[in-house]
Amino acid sequence: MDRYVIKGGKPLSGEVEVGGAKNAALGLLAAAIMTDEDVTIENLPDVSDINQLIDAIENIGATVTRTDRHTVTINGSTIKSHVVDYEQMRKIRASYYLLGALLGKMSKAEVALPGGCAIGSRPIDQHLKGFRALGADIITDHGMVNAQAERLTGSHIFFDVVSVGATINVMLAAVKAEGRTVIENCAKEPHIVDVANMLNSMGANIRGAGTDKIRIQGVPSLHGTVYSTIPDQIEAGTFMCAAAATGGEILVKNVIPRHLESISSKLIEMGCTVIEYDDAVRVKAGDFIRGAKIKTLPYPGFPTDMQPQMTAVLSLAHGNSSVTESIFENRFKYVDELNRMGAIIKVESNAAFITGVGGLQGAEVSAPDLRAGAALVIAGLAANGFTTVNDIVYIKRGYERFVEKLKGVGAIIDTASSEEEEQKFKLKVG
Ligand code: UD1
Repeated sequence: MDRYVIKGGKPLSGEVEVGGAKNAALGLLAAAIMTDEDVTIENLPDVSDINQLIDAIENIGATVTRTDRHTVTINGSTIKSHVVDYEQMRKIRASYYLLGALLGKMSKAEVALPGGCAIGSRPIDQHLKGFRALGADIITDHGMVNAQAERLTGSHIFFDVVSVGATINVMLAAVKAEGRTVIENCAKEPHIVDVANMLNSMGANIRGAGTDKIRIQGVPSLHGTVYSTIPDQIEAGTFMCAAAATGGEILVKNVIPRHLESISSKLIEMGCTVIEYDDAVRVKAGDFIRGAKIKTLPYPGFPTDMQPQMTAVLSLAHGNSSVTESIFENRFKYVDELNRMGAIIKVESNAAFITGVGGLQGAEVSAPDLRAGAALVIAGLAANGFTTVNDIVYIKRGYERFVEKLKGVGAIIDTASSEEEEQKFKLKVG
């Protein structure tokens, strides 16, 4: 099994280029099937989550042409099936965006129900509530969600919880609904704005994306477009944390600094210097890391997807910290792994209490999920000695060329596929 082997303790320095946002791209790909004309999406990250959604789209009959690693053209005119089976859903949770997109396109969709996952139970009741309000009949049976409508009509929807997925999914279903839809208590994440912008470039009429109230005037049809995905806020934040944890300095390029404000301001509070440029941020670690209090919240609050990486940094602080997770109920599974590296973190209910230890020791650890995996890599880069991170398949879901990009800022890291390769790396780097 592939694993990352890291020799830690070296401050990272240099420049890194961030790719397109995975979570935006998942919504854009689903939106692309809604017209019968060509939609070209650029700046897609080449990560397994994206490639699996593209496979699911091809599987229902859309014509998919890959121009290069980061560009795909999708033509939805050849779609034959409105059914996304469990096999696809098992590989990629976000295939549920095909529910909204197919319902909007064909007035019918049948998609396997996503299961729970490593970080929480993740229900989709708000997605279904939105579809019902637009006039769809929904039956869930034998693990499938079957949504059908004679025709979709605009409606007034108030979400009970702020959900990124529900906001995007219901927006997809509503763009072609007859009349006006108003969605309230929406999530405001940058990728929601990105999906709305692409849909508008296809002829949709969506206003207010990025605020808690989205207004959609239904249009009878959508047309093709060429659209470029926004930069990945979480990939950027991960490198910012890597600079902070290793006492280094990294220029993180191709970002929208405004999207990173909650991360930047926390790092400044923790003693780092963060300089914003037009499309880059420079993070320089301070002499030591100060303890801090963090609470995850929907955008523009501190992102839950940065919670593990920031906890890894705080484990190295001088002083105590607390991290409260308010979005997902089971997102501290990596803490035991960090503790095996010498961190002192106690989890009580939805909060982690961290006694900063100033330094970590390398160890063999396993990634329990995507962002937790990134956090363990950060910890390994900061720790003394060697760290092996197992189960990197999770990390590959969301980080493109992670090892290469880290090497580019001076990290001593490699992928090893066997014990032998691991030993070889260790001997080579001493
Ligand atoms: C998206 C992101 C994920 C990120 C999360 C929160 C994608 C593909 N994934 O996930 O990386 O961690 O936002 O920023 O973009 N909820 C309900 N009912 C619903 C839907 C959600 O109760 O119908 C709850 C969830 O259990 C959770 C909260 O709402 O507690 C937020 O979840 P949501 O924003 O929907 O997360 P995802 O869209 O699944």
